[in-house]
Amino acid sequence: MSVELRTQCVHVNLAGRSYDIKIGRGEAYSALQEIKKLAPKSRMMIVTDETVLKIHNATVVAIFGIENVETYCYVVPPGEASKSWTQLGVVVEHIIEKKFERGDIIIAFGGGVIGDLTGFAASMVRRGVRFVQIPTTLLAQVDSSVGGKTGINSPQGKNLIGAFYQPILVLADTALLDTLPIREMRAGYAEVVKYGLIDKPEFFDWLEAGAWKGIFSGGPEREEAVRISCEAKAAIVARDETETGDRALLNLGHTFGHALEQAVNYDSKRLVHGEGVAIGMSLAHRFSHKLGLISGQDVTRVTKHLDDVGLPTRLQQIKGGVGTADSLLQAMYQDKKVTRGKLNFILTKGIGKSFIARDIEPSSVIEFLKHELRAD
Ligand SMILES: NC(=O)c1ccc[n+]([C@@H]2O[C@H](COP(=O)([O-])OP(=O)(O)OC[C@H]3O[C@@H](n4cnc5c(N)ncnc54)[C@H](O)[C@@H]3O)[C@@H](O)[C@H]2O)c1
Ligand SMILES: [Zn+2]
Repeated sequence: MSVELRTQCVHVNLAGRSYDIKIGRGEAYSALQEIKKLAPKSRMMIVTDETVLKIHNATVVAIFGIENVETYCYVVPPGEASKSWTQLGVVVEHIIEKKFERGDIIIAFGGGVIGDLTGFAASMVRRGVRFVQIPTTLLAQVDSSVGGKTGINSPQGKNLIGAFYQPILVLADTALLDTLPIREMRAGYAEVVKYGLIDKPEFFDWLEAGAWKGIFSGGPEREEAVRISCEAKAAIVARDETETGDRALLNLGHTFGHALEQAVNYDSKRLVHGEGVAIGMSLAHRFSHKLGLISGQDVTRVTKHLDDVGLPTRLQQIKGGVGTADSLLQAMYQDKKVTRGKLNFILTKGIGKSFIARDIEPSSVIEFLKHELRAD
């Protein structure tokens, strides 16, 4: 696959709620003009976290500099803990206090936490204020900023409170990722690999053959991978916006992954979302092998690639343990991926051949997890 460096655009086709994703290096600056076009004489509220504000202050200042637009900024603490009732309430009240109307614009400038929290807040104020995403993590550029899932966590489980609320524009400036800590870059990369493993075997081949190095180092492969990932997600979302069918494929690795995140109490020192997804995808492939669906060679290819980039692939790599097979299964039942009490798993018949498996027997999951917890 040859790669050309230029600004690219992916369209998310959702009838009246369609929007563009602009992808390019330095795009955030040029795209400010686009936001300006969307918001003549309106107000803007940037919601970001302390870390992003400190590192990318110049972009925030540039947004503030847009002529004839009244701009505000609200800053939340970084980390998953901000996807809470408390922060949601504070952000919503802040927007209302500044008298924002539906035609004004709320900008989520940050990672998936900021996008999920801000999008949910924007969906609530006056039943929906316009919302733009400027994602600053790889995970947010390839996944969370696209598709309109917004929300917060409940003490009883992740993302259990939320709404489908589409942005009007997504600006993915890949230069913003140059400052990402390597651990966050890897975590986002897990979601990139996910698209290959769902239904793009040639994309997985390309990543595995070395494109991953360019993604990490800021080569043109980065824009290409963001584009392919956004196209993959946009296509699935256009078919099934509210996850009544195919969209569930995007949960590959997430049924296990979310249970692991809950098992460590969302403690990012022990596990971040993308790491949970990497272990979850490895488990999904090994579970599929145990069920006789996929060859051992394919499982080895997947886990070796994740290992090569430095992502975890085994439960033992999570410091402090993750409880028992039973407690993990209980956590999976709390997750949204349950229909009338039956567990839905994304399993696979090979690299890029994932499918939705309904009615998985809990006993086979328990047996598999017991084996995984014992394995060295
Ligand atoms: N809505 C969806 O469809 C969807 C999909 C996938 C994940 N998610 C959610 O996304 C969240 C994870 O997102 P995330 O991994 O982006 O986490 P995050 O938002 O917590 O960001 C990770 C860390 O990186 C920092 N950071 C962000 N941008 C930076 C930059 N450019 N340079 C340096 N540091 C930077 C942040 O301050 C934070 O500490 C989870 O809550 C997950 O549930 C949502
Ligand atoms: Zn994810």
